[in-house]
Amino acid sequence: MSTHCITDGNHAINVADPTGVGTAFREALAHFCSGVVIVTAANATGSPVGMTVGSFTSISMNPPLVGFFAGQNSTTLPHIIAEGGFCVNVLSEDQHGLARTFARSGVDKFAGTDWAPATNGSPRLAGAHAWIDCTLDQRQSIGDHDLVVGHVDALVVPQPNEPLVFHRSVFHGLRAHG
Ligand SMILES: Cc1cc2nc3c(=O)[nH]c(=O)nc-3n(C[C@H](O)[C@H](O)[C@H](O)COP(=O)(O)O)c2cc1C
Repeated sequence: MSTHCITDGNHAINVADPTGVGTAFREALAHFCSGVVIVTAANATGSPVGMTVGSFTSISMNPPLVGFFAGQNSTTLPHIIAEGGFCVNVLSEDQHGLARTFARSGVDKFAGTDWAPATNGSPRLAGAHAWIDCTLDQRQSIGDHDLVVGHVDALVVPQPNEPLVFHRSVFHGLRAHG
């Protein structure tokens, strides 16, 4: 096995050796910065559910598809699958508190959170940078996560503000260069 995970300039961990790989994997992969979204849905009783996601990506323009990876122990994932639809709330720079709240399991994440239902019933969170309403297109288990692909039904950019960015476990704003 020649693949190595470099954790600093002088130190490499062979990923074939399970000792310390989890820590090295997290530390090295945390260097890849991402935007932050909260994926929401309605559960069977119509109550809102949602989770913070950094693995969101666009996939295809024609047909319009987006996707994200959800941990298989996520409590939100089964509701997204059962309801067959979700809303991707792209977070604004000032929504890092919401990002932290929706990264917890088993708490009332929507207490004190303003939202309105999209046409598919999934919550659109007030103050978001963008809303992307989706119908579930497909779901595929990959390792310990599920790839969730959505067909885009509506795209809304409610206000011209700045996005939230996540890098090395810290929330940031965006700085433009050039
Ligand atoms: C910035 C950030 C990005 C995250 N990205 C993901 C992700 O892409 N997929 C995932 O399954 N969990 C991700 N998480 C962790 C989930 O938000 C967390 O496991 C949450 O408890 C899931 O909630 P649930 O069990 O109620 O669904 C992320 C957390 C943070 C803070």
